[in-house]
Amino acid sequence: MKKYCVGVVGALGAVGTEMLKILEQRDFPIETIKPLDVKENEGKKICFKGQDVEVRSAEEGAFRDLDIALFSAGEVASRNLAPVAVSEGCIVIDNSNAFRMDPEKPLIIPEVNPEDIMWHKGIIANPNCSTIQMLVALKPLHDRFGIKRIVVSTYQAVSGSGLFGIAELEEQLRAYTEDRELEVKVYPHQIAFNAIPHIDSFTDNGYTKEEMKMVHETHKIFHNSDIAITATAVRIPVIRCHSESINIETEEPIDLQEAKEVLYRAQGIKVLDNVSTNIYPLAAELAGTNEVYVGRIRQDFSVANGLNMWVVADNLRKGAALNAVQIAETLIQLK
Ligand SMILES: NC(=O)c1ccc[n+]([C@@H]2O[C@H](COP(=O)([O-])OP(=O)(O)OC[C@H]3O[C@@H](n4cnc5c(N)ncnc54)[C@H](OP(=O)(O)O)[C@@H]3O)[C@@H](O)[C@H]2O)c1
Repeated sequence: MKKYCVGVVGALGAVGTEMLKILEQRDFPIETIKPLDVKENEGKKICFKGQDVEVRSAEEGAFRDLDIALFSAGEVASRNLAPVAVSEGCIVIDNSNAFRMDPEKPLIIPEVNPEDIMWHKGIIANPNCSTIQMLVALKPLHDRFGIKRIVVSTYQAVSGSGLFGIAELEEQLRAYTEDRELEVKVYPHQIAFNAIPHIDSFTDNGYTKEEMKMVHETHKIFHNSDIAITATAVRIPVIRCHSESINIETEEPIDLQEAKEVLYRAQGIKVLDNVSTNIYPLAAELAGTNEVYVGRIRQDFSVANGLNMWVVADNLRKGAALNAVQIAETLIQLK
C-alpha cells in the first residue's frame, strides 16, 4: 500500500493534537509525519506512534516534502500558507473558515457529499463543526423525505474556541471555588454557569457569523439553496461535544418509525433514543467518540410534516479532526 508524507499545521492546538491522535488510531498509511506550528514552538516534541517527532515552523519551504497537509491553525494561517503548500506540491485539507464558501473549493463531509472531492484543485475545505454534525444527521432524512426547512439551536462546547476556550472555563471554575473574581478574556461574558447566545461576530442581519455559516454551508454541501434554515448558536460551559436541537419540515409526509429506521441504517450515525430509560445523547458521555449521536426523535405535531431531534457529536473529532482525516482517506482511495 502506498504511504504518504503528511503535515499537520497547528499541530499543538486542540484540533491539531486530535488530528495526530486520529491518524495514529486509524492507521492512516503514513510514510512520515511532520508537525508544523508557529515558529516559537519549533523544536518542541510530539509523540507519534511511540516516537518523538520535532515540531517545525509552518513557513515557505516546509511543504516541499509533503503529499497532504491538514491545516488547523486558524483562518489567517490558512489564507497565507495553504496556497504556498499547494504550490509546493501538497494537497491541503483546511479546517478554517478561509475557503469554505469559495466556489472553486469543495466543502466536504465524507458521509454526505464525498463525490465533490473529485473537483478539488489542491485545497479541500472542512465545514464548521456545527454544520458537520447537523448534516450527517439530516442527509439520510433529506434523501428520503426532502427537507424544506431547518430550525436549529446549538449548545456548543468551549473547546470549539480551541485551547484558550478550555483554559477560560477551567480558570473561571477554579476562581469561583476559590472565591476569586472571574476573569473574562475569551468570551464576551463569563462562560462558567452561563449560556451565551453569541458565537463569532454579529452580522448586519442580527445573526452571528457562526449561525450564517450553518445556513451557507448547508446550501453548498446539499447543492440546494432552496432549503430555509434559521440557526441560533449558543456557547455553554461544556468542555467537549456540541449538542443541537434540530427541527425539520419535509416535503413528503414523515413517518416517525420510518425516520428512525432511516437514521438507524445511516453511515456515521448512532441512534440513542429510549426515553423510558432516559436514554438520549449526552455531551458528558460522548467525548472521544467518532459518530454523530441522535436521540429525542419525535414528530413535531405543530406542523404537517415535522420532526424534532437532539444531536450530539465530539466537535474536536467528527466536528473537525476526524472529518479532515476521513477526507484524506477518501482522497487516497480515489488516487
Ligand atoms: N476547536 C474546534 O472544535 C474546531 C472545529 C472546527 C474547526 N476548527 C478550526 O480549526 C482551527 C484551529 O482550531 P483549534 O481549536 O485547534 O485552535 P487552537 O487550539 O488555538 O490551536 C491552533 C494552533 O495553531 C497554531 N498556529 C497559529 N498560527 C499559526 C501559524 N501561522 N502557523 C502554524 N501554526 C499556527 C497555534 O499556536 P499559538 O497558540 O502559539 O498561536 C496553535 O498551536 C481554527 O481555524 C478553527 O476555526 C476548530
